[in-house]
Amino acid sequence: MNEITPVTDAATNAEPVKAVPTLPDAQTVTAVKHWTDKLFSFRVTRPASMRFRSGEFVMIGLMGDVNPKTGKQKPLLRAYSIASPSWDDELEFYSIKVQDGPLTSKLQHIQVGDEIILRPKPVGTLVHDALIPGKRIWFFATGTGFAPFASLLRDPQTYEDYDEVIITHTCRTAGELTYGAELIENLKQDEMMIELLGEENLNKIRYYPTTTREESPKMGRITDLMRSGEAFTDLGVDPINPDSDRAMVCGNLAFNLEIKDMLEGYGLEEGANSKPAQYVVEKAFLD
Ligand code: A2P
Repeated sequence: MNEITPVTDAATNAEPVKAVPTLPDAQTVTAVKHWTDKLFSFRVTRPASMRFRSGEFVMIGLMGDVNPKTGKQKPLLRAYSIASPSWDDELEFYSIKVQDGPLTSKLQHIQVGDEIILRPKPVGTLVHDALIPGKRIWFFATGTGFAPFASLLRDPQTYEDYDEVIITHTCRTAGELTYGAELIENLKQDEMMIELLGEENLNKIRYYPTTTREESPKMGRITDLMRSGEAFTDLGVDPINPDSDRAMVCGNLAFNLEIKDMLEGYGLEEGANSKPAQYVVEKAFLD
């Protein structure tokens, strides 16, 4: 259904096509930043008609290699959380680089001016609409699971809805925390963001970064740090309770399952767009 005839003829040119041919859903790359040898972020143009709610994801990708048998190419698409807020003119994404990953082995080489494919149909459960009102929101992320929270942290609604915003981010190494750490730092210093979100609102943010395989000021998995009570002591807050606390979770599968169990243990119920409740979960993209 999604097959697109290549611009080049496979019979005369067997090389994989480098640039994405002009596609119905093409968007142009406007910025790329490499954070570590395994992580990068990039920005692309936003389709004029595309609306989304902060925290949602879309399918993005590149054309795959030419199939030598058919001479055709198929789009190679994966779900990516939109890391930019819904008011932004452009779209931002935060990605892992997997050297033998079908998509990210290629995507990591994109440069400003290149085109990617973006299907403009945003969906997802990490949205404010899927939660019932509360006082404090917890954003729990591991690795690239920070992406939807990069969007939500820049959305005024997050601060309209909650008195406190706690973002935890567990990564293997300190370098893997940099994208999130810089984003939060910039939020608090950027005049446009201060004006948009309000200085008082930005003071609601509590950032709790931890590493598991490299020395950093706070080491350990967030799950263990919560189980022992250390995270709550460090943050100076009461343990999670269903009356005041709401949570959004985005990380690797094992993390999601473990924290889901813990949140249920604290008495929180899982919500959805169709049935808002006290917490929501989404799997971070992995190639
Ligand atoms: P660890 O190094 O102890 O496995 P990954 O890079 O594998 O996606 O992991 C990202 C971060 O998530 C790592 O710091 C990893 O810790 C942590 N992590 C993995 N599984 C869990 C889990 N079940 N609970 C909490 N943290 C986890």
